Amino acid sequence: MTGPLLRAQSAHFAEIDALLPAAIEPPAGEVLTAALPDGDRVAGMLTRTTLAPGSPQTLWSTAEVWELHPLVGAHGGVGMRALLDLWPAVIARAAPGRDSACVVNWPSRDIDATAAFLSHGFVPLAVLAVRTDASSPVATRADVRVRRAVGADLDSLVGLAMAEVEYSSRVGGAIVRAGAATIKRDTLRRHLAQGDPVWIAEREGVAVGHVEGWHTTSAAGTWAETRVRHGRWGYVNCLSVTPSARGTGIGRTLMDVAHRTLLDRGAAGAFLYYNPPNPVSPVFWARQGYRPLWTVWEVRPARALR
Ligand SMILES: CC(C)(COP(=O)(O)OP(=O)(O)OC[C@H]1O[C@@H](n2cnc3c(N)ncnc32)[C@H](O)[C@@H]1OP(=O)(O)O)[C@@H](O)C(=O)NCCC(=O)NCCS
Repeated sequence: MTGPLLRAQSAHFAEIDALLPAAIEPPAGEVLTAALPDGDRVAGMLTRTTLAPGSPQTLWSTAEVWELHPLVGAHGGVGMRALLDLWPAVIARAAPGRDSACVVNWPSRDIDATAAFLSHGFVPLAVLAVRTDASSPVATRADVRVRRAVGADLDSLVGLAMAEVEYSSRVGGAIVRAGAATIKRDTLRRHLAQGDPVWIAEREGVAVGHVEGWHTTSAAGTWAETRVRHGRWGYVNCLSVTPSARGTGIGRTLMDVAHRTLLDRGAAGAFLYYNPPNPVSPVFWARQGYRPLWTVWEVRPARALR
């Protein structure tokens, strides 16, 4: 049953958004199937993941994640609604704790499914946004110096990364866990050691912002294949400007420099995640040429699913 649904889903994706990759086989999990009024069937794979305490993902995800991978072919909202109707009973049986979520990643432009998500209590907590235009706007501030960060910048980088987590925890899915600064320090140290680009912005010699990113390849069997078309992509992991310097052009100046590397020759484009409830980042990223590709629909805690 999954083969025809997968092919129909790929065709549907290609119709609604030319930048979507082909639908791929979902990971193994609990199978949900539902019959539709016209006799057709849809399916979904339900996976449950538990994060290791202290892992980087715990700063943007609940500890327990129930994710539905829908296979609704071209059945749009009707198919999605039929699948979502089955999910609350599964959650009620499992009775997950408070640090849990139900999650579905779904194409942002499949607006037929949007009403189904909203009526089941999901919120659009994050968006994967994409940009394929390599031309760079010239918006640099002459009094801001942007350079590649080095190990000696670690304290400043941790402070900036924590400012982003704190802000995002108020307007999105980030969670300021005990030990968050240590997790950030270890992650940043690792990125610097493996040569991933991290840029730092300084004004009058004082660190006022940073951005981290790297290149990732979407190919058969990779995580990126589930999100973007095959090819080499720039990924922006974190952009942060110190609270007192926000809104003065530092974010733009940092991204001008970062895009020169992340959108270099051979890159199909760049992508990143932002939180729609964040009052500054959606408009910032739209002005940087990004637009929604996938919406991460979430219910926290999982038991709030209806
Ligand atoms: C989002 C962020 C990185 C942008 O950097 P910034 O240096 O403040 O942004 P800029 O000054 O370059 O702003 C460019 C645009 O962003 C928007 N913007 C962002 N922050 C703003 C603020 N505090 N006040 C006004 N506009 C702001 C505006 O649309 C602005 O465009 P405009 O100047 O043409 O009106 C920064 O505000 C920040 O660190 N926010 C908190 C953490 C965060 O949200 N990070 C992004 C997670 S995806």
